[in-house]
Amino acid sequence: MKKTILVTGAAVRIGREIALTFAKDGWNIIIHCNSSTEKAEALAKEIEENFESSAKVVQANLDKDDHVERMIDEVKSCFGSLDAIVNNASSFYPTPIGELTLKDWDQLIGSNLKGPLFLINGLIDLLKESKGVIINMTDMNVGRGLAKFSIYTAAKGGLLAATKVLARELAPDIRVNAVAPGAILEPPGSSWSEEVKNKILSAIPLGRLGTEKDIAGTVKFLVDSEYITGQAINVDGGRSLL
Ligand SMILES: NC(=O)c1ccc[n+]([C@@H]2O[C@H](COP(=O)([O-])OP(=O)(O)OC[C@H]3O[C@@H](n4cnc5c(N)ncnc54)[C@H](OP(=O)(O)O)[C@@H]3O)[C@@H](O)[C@H]2O)c1
Repeated sequence: MKKTILVTGAAVRIGREIALTFAKDGWNIIIHCNSSTEKAEALAKEIEENFESSAKVVQANLDKDDHVERMIDEVKSCFGSLDAIVNNASSFYPTPIGELTLKDWDQLIGSNLKGPLFLINGLIDLLKESKGVIINMTDMNVGRGLAKFSIYTAAKGGLLAATKVLARELAPDIRVNAVAPGAILEPPGSSWSEEVKNKILSAIPLGRLGTEKDIAGTVKFLVDSEYITGQAINVDGGRSLL
């Protein structure tokens, strides 16, 4: 039987590459999106036309509890089974201290911590049946702190902690790991100046930004690695060494 993977935030950028990587291997793909529904539908079409796999789209704003509940029901009925979840969706923006708002808290915690945890919670029976795998996308900056991003970094730190807790709690049936990217893509809707880009590059021992493929390849490696659980792999060109 074909395996099925749910990738959140899969319409664009890194999530899209993860979805394509598994589609190439013949997995059925559940593409989650929030606002990028047209891009998600186009990706589903591309997958079904080019690979031996089926793709379905589910839409939900992970900040909203009722959306998450509806999404869980929809995911259950997509293919009737689930072998892997990649919690990739994320909102990312600065929240300097002195300017924090409860709206920022709800948005950044919703997509980066609460949503992923409640998705796992609602889909756990399917994952137990398949002896599935969970991959949580965190951030290399959790280990070092990213100034002006206290809520985002705390949310990703919480997701890293949940990764370790669940790896123990769900073993031996389900493996739970994290991928922690470094500088891969410019934040959506913004671009780095040459000066900022050069500063970032000078802090990366491997001397280049990462690519979507670098991340998708690591997700695939962790899904396939049957003796790895509770780990977080920094995919950051060595940036976390400095
Ligand atoms: N890019 C990097 O350099 C980098 C660095 C460190 C960590 N990471 C992590 O790697 C993962 C992928 O990065 P990325 O840059 O490709 O992500 P991204 O483009 O910033 O976000 C991926 C998707 O998340 C979805 N999303 C945001 N808020 C949401 C919400 N409230 N509910 C549901 N979906 C929501 C959006 O879906 P829609 O477009 O459908 O609205 C978006 O397309 C993220 O977890 C990110 O934190 C990335």
